[in-house]
Amino acid sequence: MTTRTYLRRQGRISRGQARAISELSDQFLISTRLEVTRMPDWTAVFGRSAPLGLEIGFGMGHALLAWGQRHPDWNLLGIDVYQPGIGSLLLGMAAQKLTHLRIINEEATSALSECFDPASLDEVRIYFPDPWPKTRHHKRRLIQPGFAALLADRLKPGGRLLLASDWQPYADWMLEVLDGESGLAPMAETWTSRSAPAAAAAVATRPGPDPCSSSKRWAPVW
Ligand SMILES: C[S@@+](CC[C@H](N)C(=O)[O-])C[C@H]1O[C@@H](n2cnc3c(N)ncnc32)[C@H](O)[C@@H]1O
Repeated sequence: MTTRTYLRRQGRISRGQARAISELSDQFLISTRLEVTRMPDWTAVFGRSAPLGLEIGFGMGHALLAWGQRHPDWNLLGIDVYQPGIGSLLLGMAAQKLTHLRIINEEATSALSECFDPASLDEVRIYFPDPWPKTRHHKRRLIQPGFAALLADRLKPGGRLLLASDWQPYADWMLEVLDGESGLAPMAETWTSRSAPAAAAAVATRPGPDPCSSSKRWAPVW
């Protein structure tokens, strides 16, 4: 049995969110276990070749929508299992007429390993994953050495991994895990001495709408 990394959130799904799921799933939702028997061809799914970006654990979808608005030239995917969040993201996409986003309604580790070829992702973002503060729960944290290795493998050479946490002990944990992953190197230039990194990573520790767009408010620590 795999360790569950997400809280069982109580939030009830609203009528609008449920309607968005029932009406828009065919167009935008991918449930790997049910529908995908082989690696998806993302160029075919999106109908175009474009940089491929992924947000893991998008919650209510705010950051992913913002990414989509700013980058109509990217093919963007989000992974989450939280149904009100999936409904909310679909509602946002419809309101903003964003058609270059897709949602994978699946557990993150299996989705990342089953839906993406090695060296296929240009950027992966994981913002504010559940910190699991109690020591006995640390094994539930999404960011673990095996997961970091999988991320490094799925990122393209030169691709970027952006992590954020507003819980300093978890940010420290992220740094420790990334530091142990030889396929990733810190984005800060002072750390580029490592040989031939597969991809670059950054951890930010202060809350904000998006570490990429508001770098002055963020403390990049790796
Ligand atoms: C603390 S919330 C953060 C949401 C959002 N990134 C934000 O900044 O508000 C973590 C999210 O990650 C999702 N999540 C955690 N572990 C997951 C997993 N293994 N697979 C899929 N989703 C996961 C949860 O369902 C939840 O929506």
